[in-house]
Amino acid sequence: MGGFDSHRVYAKVIKVLVVDDEFLVREFLSDILLATEKYQVISADNGQTALDLCRQDAGIGLIVSDMNMPVKDGLSMIKDLRGAGMDMPIVVMSGNNEIAIAIAALNSGANDYLIKDENIQDTVVLAVEKALEKKRIEDDNRQLQELQKRFLVELDGMVHELETVVERMTVLGTALSSERHSNRLAEVIISHAVHLSGADYGLLWMMEKDKLVCTGLQALSLGVSKYNAEGIGMENLAVSQLHPVALAALNKQPAQVPDIAEQPGIDMTLVRRLDAAAGLNGRSMYLVPMLHHGHDLMGVIQLVNTLDADTGRIRQINLKRKGILESLALQAALAIRNQKLFHEMENLFEAVVQVMASAIDEKSPVTKGHISRVAQIAVELAQEVNAANEGAFVETRFTEDELDEIRIAALLHDVGKITTPEHILEKGTKLEKLLDRLELIEERFRYVGAALTAQCMAEKIRLMEEGAPEAAVAGLDEKLRQQLRELQDDIGIIRAANNPEEFMSDEKLARLQQVYAKRISLNGDETRLLTDDEFTNLSIRRGSITPAELAIMRNHVEVTIRLLNQIPFTEKLKNVPIYAGGHHEKLNGQGYPQKLAESQLPLQTRIVAIADLFEALTASDRPYKKSMPLAKAMSIMESAVENEEIDRNLFELFKKQKLHERLSGRGQHP
Ligand SMILES: [Fe+2]
Ligand SMILES: [Fe+2]
Repeated sequence: MGGFDSHRVYAKVIKVLVVDDEFLVREFLSDILLATEKYQVISADNGQTALDLCRQDAGIGLIVSDMNMPVKDGLSMIKDLRGAGMDMPIVVMSGNNEIAIAIAALNSGANDYLIKDENIQDTVVLAVEKALEKKRIEDDNRQLQELQKRFLVELDGMVHELETVVERMTVLGTALSSERHSNRLAEVIISHAVHLSGADYGLLWMMEKDKLVCTGLQALSLGVSKYNAEGIGMENLAVSQLHPVALAALNKQPAQVPDIAEQPGIDMTLVRRLDAAAGLNGRSMYLVPMLHHGHDLMGVIQLVNTLDADTGRIRQINLKRKGILESLALQAALAIRNQKLFHEMENLFEAVVQVMASAIDEKSPVTKGHISRVAQIAVELAQEVNAANEGAFVETRFTEDELDEIRIAALLHDVGKITTPEHILEKGTKLEKLLDRLELIEERFRYVGAALTAQCMAEKIRLMEEGAPEAAVAGLDEKLRQQLRELQDDIGIIRAANNPEEFMSDEKLARLQQVYAKRISLNGDETRLLTDDEFTNLSIRRGSITPAELAIMRNHVEVTIRLLNQIPFTEKLKNVPIYAGGHHEKLNGQGYPQKLAESQLPLQTRIVAIADLFEALTASDRPYKKSMPLAKAMSIMESAVENEEIDRNLFELFKKQKLHERLSGRGQHP
């Protein structure tokens, strides 16, 4: 009889397979096991049948097997079972004289062995129970190990995720605290929010006055990101409108909208109109208001998911990180608030600088516009340095902040002129103080002429009364005519000398000296035609400024340095006093006020110096000269380069980029 001969099925938990080639032994063992009422028993008469049964029935929980059997013996069966990955406990039975076989069976994967003796009735039950208990413990252990392994993998994943979030929050924190540029701030906030929430897209709404303005958009699924309101082109929202963003702003509470189409109290036409403007199609959303101090609304972060393209289901925002998103909103609110304060301070500072610059410009109508033009020229020259792709400046690039530092330095370069007396700033002629003193001198000359005439008349009357000869009287007339002629000549000399464009040659100076030395006797008093100060001023060889006035004029740079050093400039503007205070320094060390050497003059200072010189030369409204032809101005600058007063490379760039043609037309002059 082949195969298995009994299928006794009981509602027992564990199925035991008894393998023995002797029918009686199989029956005997089956009965013993069934009697415990713990087992369901099936049997097989050789190793091969047992193997086949095990392959068909995964429910066999234990095997009790003989060793010596036909077809396939116990040892070979054990090897095949273990080879096939089957791990049920196997208890082998052997005779007293077959211990070696039993040991071989244990080595091949059997779990226990029994000696077929008179005690088998008891030992088989014990052996089966022990083997099953051991298997249970092993299974439990394995399960525990697997659980532990799974837990460790999960833990690893969680730690990794936590690390990513912490890293992202750290980057965010740093970026938020340092970002001063509103577009970049919008980018930092919205890109972190989108990545942390895993949303399809995110929108950043900022509270501006009483409207919510969309200033940031990142649509991952569309590959679109925009960080300025104009580019996004969404209409602004009032908090009273029936839009989820406005409602979240009004309630100042985070809000989850699982499906916008089913959300009550929403104006769907408005929602769709706004979505369409940005090319979006949102379904579920999560809204986080950004509140400063818990109540001051800075804006709203809107995170949106669209439909899942594959399943057609609405994908929900990952709210596992709700807490993190809310903390992001908190940090964002603080950053936006700081940025607003920073911009307000910057605007305030800019306004103060502009007021100071225009105060100087306004102070003297004759130099009006100088400051703003110098700032313009300096910035354009610095931009040309940045654009240079060959030559000396190919590797020089000013940052936006550095360009601004140059602009502020140029706007403040002459701030010291606030203390320069106006009559020196505006001195148009040599005699000018608060008024042109030529008029006083002319008045004096008229008085002297009239007094001489009156004196002559009185003399004539006296001579006639004394009966003096006619010739003597006529002599008086001739003398008066002579004196009046000389006065005419003298005032002519003075008028000519008062013109600052007139160069005072030695000859002219000698003639002026004669006028100055002249004493006219009037009614017994010696009268002078010129005071000492008038003579000093008229003696100026070139221009209208006396050496003393020149010193006062030049003093403006020292005042500029002194004033600017009192301003606690921010880090990015800390060099303003250096760049502004050096605008009259020269590379050859002959400038003023500090006679700085070339090595002490940064490029920025040289830029301001060139801008100042060019503006001064080409301005048409200087008191002591007419608008200088551009060619002449350029040739003066050319000689300033030759004399090592201004930077050659900068001037070459200035010429090459034709800044003189572009910039000279900006003033009041042609
Ligand atoms: Fe100056
Ligand atoms: Fe200047």
